[in-house]
Amino acid sequence: MLKNGGLNLKVLVVGGGGREHAIIQKLKENPAIDTIYCAPGNGGIALTATCVPIGAKEIEKLADFAQEHRMDYVVVTPDDPLCLGLVDLLAARGIPTFGPCKAAARLEGSKIFAKDLMRRYGIPTADYLAFDDYQTALRYVRNAACPMVIKADGLALGKGVLICHTRREAEEAVTALMQEGKFGSSGSRIVVEAFLQGPEVSVLCFTDGTTLRPMVSCMDHKTALNGDKGLNTGGMGVIAPNPFYAQDIAKVCLDTIFLPTLHAMRAEGCPFQGCLYFGLMLTDSGPKVIEYNCRFGDPEAQTVLSLLKSDLFTLMQATTNGTLNQTECRFSDEACCCVVFASGGYPERYETGKPIMGIPAAEKLANIFHAGTRLTENGIIESSGGRVLNVTATADTLRSAVKRAYNAASLITFEGMYMRTDIGEKALLKTEWKTDHER
Ligand code: AMP
Ligand code: GLY
Repeated sequence: MLKNGGLNLKVLVVGGGGREHAIIQKLKENPAIDTIYCAPGNGGIALTATCVPIGAKEIEKLADFAQEHRMDYVVVTPDDPLCLGLVDLLAARGIPTFGPCKAAARLEGSKIFAKDLMRRYGIPTADYLAFDDYQTALRYVRNAACPMVIKADGLALGKGVLICHTRREAEEAVTALMQEGKFGSSGSRIVVEAFLQGPEVSVLCFTDGTTLRPMVSCMDHKTALNGDKGLNTGGMGVIAPNPFYAQDIAKVCLDTIFLPTLHAMRAEGCPFQGCLYFGLMLTDSGPKVIEYNCRFGDPEAQTVLSLLKSDLFTLMQATTNGTLNQTECRFSDEACCCVVFASGGYPERYETGKPIMGIPAAEKLANIFHAGTRLTENGIIESSGGRVLNVTATADTLRSAVKRAYNAASLITFEGMYMRTDIGEKALLKTEWKTDHER
């Protein structure tokens, strides 16, 4: 499949966050790769790969670049270019790519598509109704049981989910999404679903459409503030493995959720190839799907890839070539913790352009993946986004990994920065309670 006899390869990574920084670091372990390009990249990526000033949504320009510069392989990880069909565009030009085609990316790009698929194929998820008419939706929520969860159908930067505790809140949410266009056209259709309870687990899987290789499980911390308070963000920290994801639960998920989802996508004529992310809730009546993502999570990727022992490039190619059943996928037994530094004000308004101090010292203790950073002409790293850095540490135990990540984090400063100081706390309570209990 690859040109150049599989040597001196040129790879383009699309995106510019901590996830892409972590992916590039792993890809560099493969000696067949000669040059890595990243579009658009960031300040940290600029130190290890060639950044190309093309935005992740500019899919025609990206495809032109890949063709003109003869890329041997392209890795597409952000949701936007996947849902816009960049993989299809590259395939049409004969360039092998990591990521699902546009039709398969609907698992994330349309919540209604995902929910209808789960219903048709008996995959456990919250009960729901979908609406495309404002008045009908309003009438429904005025009589529905509370709490209820209202979701924009389309992509909304992880912010299109509103948990409503009263009918009044639900009416406001429906109005904000369908009438006031809070998330643009993403909210012109909505899903109203039942509120589920239980620990949340994220499981990312490599898949070639038929074979599935689950990665080590993890736990995101989605809200801005300690104690799961504050606004929803793209993710403020992750730990892996997730202690709530016991082996018997993993087996149930594989049999009732993961494999049935792959089967459903094949049966619909759009086999899923790439990284399929299952957002799960472990309810009293079994594991249920909260969401699918058609890509690596961010900062989940930074965490799980830190524990990956097998070669990432080989695994990615296997998802493209359909040879995953012959490909090894091993993870370390260690634990990993990733803490996100954000700009003050994120996920709402924040300032950028703040010089960041202490990264070299912190790098002695942990991996520092860059998210919203920029390398200035004077060689200074400054903030350029909401989520700025991902401090990622591995160790024998979760407690040591958390401690190491926070020790490294304590060395970094920039004006207005903030982080959550309780990443991993819930998981540690669970792990240490379990250990005491078993003694
Ligand atoms: P999503 O963007 O779909 O992952 O949703 C964001 C967060 O909203 C999830 O991580 C859950 O904490 C919460 N959530 C989504 N759907 C439900 C549900 N049906 N019941 C309870 N919480 C939910
Ligand atoms: N951290 C959540 C996501 O990437 O969707």
